[in-house]
Amino acid sequence: MKIGIFYATNTGFTKDIADKIHSKLGPKLVTTCKNIEDRTIDEMLGYDVLLLGIATWDAGDLPYDWAEFYDDLHKYDFTGTRVVMFGLGDQVGYPETFLDAMGIVYRKFLEQGAHGDCGFWPTAAYEYFGSLAVYGETFCGLAIDEDNEPELTDSRLDKWCAQIMRELGLLQVCDSNDQPNNAATA
Ligand SMILES: Cc1cc2nc3c(=O)[nH]c(=O)nc-3n(C[C@H](O)[C@H](O)[C@H](O)COP(=O)(O)O)c2cc1C
Repeated sequence: MKIGIFYATNTGFTKDIADKIHSKLGPKLVTTCKNIEDRTIDEMLGYDVLLLGIATWDAGDLPYDWAEFYDDLHKYDFTGTRVVMFGLGDQVGYPETFLDAMGIVYRKFLEQGAHGDCGFWPTAAYEYFGSLAVYGETFCGLAIDEDNEPELTDSRLDKWCAQIMRELGLLQVCDSNDQPNNAATA
């Protein structure tokens, strides 16, 4: 199974989270971890699973590099690819648009044929008024708030990495080098 992480970052937080996910899942399992700045959408083709990292900016908008990709995504077919989202936002500063960009990009990939439903994350522990990333009682991906709850990030990452390994059916096939840290206890 070919798995890649692609993300954009303005101030570095999403890069830190992407690097942590990469190290927890292991480089043997996740062969790519790329900042999409100065990259092309073609580089995302051919993966079975895309782990997509995105922060929300400008009150509900996509960060610049994702916005550039978004405008061209309609030309691409992601049938056969599973998308798994992780999003960063600020639930205190932007409670009405919390993680909007994650929901916007997730839906766009589904429109282009990708399959979702992996890595959904409970909304219960967060305080916000509105979010385009919400599906029922869950966000469409991992919700990270480095602005207000950095102390919760590592445990959220451990739990989520173990969750997606289970959901992707990978726990039984990875060797000890690929095991997500703390997967057994999460
Ligand atoms: C000007 C500005 C606008 C923002 N708008 C939102 C927003 O609408 N929704 C949200 O959840 N977070 C918002 N944020 C918070 C960022 O998403 C958050 O700080 C994130 O961790 C930045 O990640 P990055 O460093 O990878 O770009 C905003 C931050 C700034 C400075």
